[in-house]
Amino acid sequence: MRRIGVLTSGGDSPGMNAAIMAVARSAAYHELSLIGVKHGYNGLLCKSHNIHDDMAELDLDTVLDIADQPGTYLRTARCVEFKQPEVRERAVENLHKMGVEGLVVIGGDGSYQGAMRLCELGIPTIGIPGTIDNDLPYTEMTLGYDTAVNSCVSDIRAIRATSRSHDRPAVIEVMGRHCGDIALKSAASTGAEIVVVPEVHWSIDQVAERLNALIARGNNRVSVVVAEGAWENMEPFDVYGFLTANGVQCYPGEVISSPRLASILKLKCGMVEARATILGYTQRGQHPSAYDSSFAFEAGNLAVKLLSNGIGNQVVGIKDGRIFYMPIADALRCKRSFNMELYNLINSL
Ligand code: F6P
Repeated sequence: MRRIGVLTSGGDSPGMNAAIMAVARSAAYHELSLIGVKHGYNGLLCKSHNIHDDMAELDLDTVLDIADQPGTYLRTARCVEFKQPEVRERAVENLHKMGVEGLVVIGGDGSYQGAMRLCELGIPTIGIPGTIDNDLPYTEMTLGYDTAVNSCVSDIRAIRATSRSHDRPAVIEVMGRHCGDIALKSAASTGAEIVVVPEVHWSIDQVAERLNALIARGNNRVSVVVAEGAWENMEPFDVYGFLTANGVQCYPGEVISSPRLASILKLKCGMVEARATILGYTQRGQHPSAYDSSFAFEAGNLAVKLLSNGIGNQVVGIKDGRIFYMPIADALRCKRSFNMELYNLINSL
């Protein structure tokens, strides 16, 4: 192999730039030229009509300076049309045009599906699990998860401080799509008393009951950490009916949200106030933690080493602190196991 490419795809995650830097250093070490593909899989489709705007040689000197930066230097995007076989064939033609013989894809499970299809079309591809969600069960941690949790921990601690000052509970929503790991880990790390996640069916009444019990024990500054996907596994609740009956302005058909959960809990638990904070993109736009930076460094190096040995169709992961690789298809078949003990502990102690 003489030339490989690298792209970042899906939601950005802290550590993506560190991984690009590692790929670039390793490519230089293995005497491979390196093409940076812009905007995820879109860059392979030459959407800007000048292939060199979408795929350009990466300058090692520039890349060396971005390793500790948040975001992704290559930009990222989701590319729905990559699901179409004819679109993927166009991508492969463009890769051939640019002389790219292997590809490193840094992204989540959707990005891995695309990587697997490229392998079927003869482009050896290696995946690095770049997503804050920690929803790729084949690896202990995904790249960016540790940083996202640390970001949540710092924000939740700040919110708990003000909750304490005002003697009021707080609802705090974190990211994770269909995965509750960010919520669970941040709740455990901050001493939050209630956590709700998409993996476990829950109801507003149960949360209110737990909150009331904590208040009765003298804790009126409870943190309720909500995974953004938790609403999908919530017992249906008539938000409009309940709030309007209690004199709160609400619109017919309004769905539950963190601010609405805070209002409902305030009423159900007789609190003077209860506030909600949605942490949102602060979790994605952080400088990578030491853990994520060193994971990125090892993962980028291993990805290039595999390609330089003619090995593709693999993903890189981490287990017991050690980096490893396995076939993409096997990785995607791994089943998640949710840490129910930790969930029960947070919600019962
Ligand atoms: O996959 C990472 C993630 O941040 C999820 O936690 C979240 O649901 C999603 O991306 C949001 O994506 P977007 O920024 O495209 O709305």
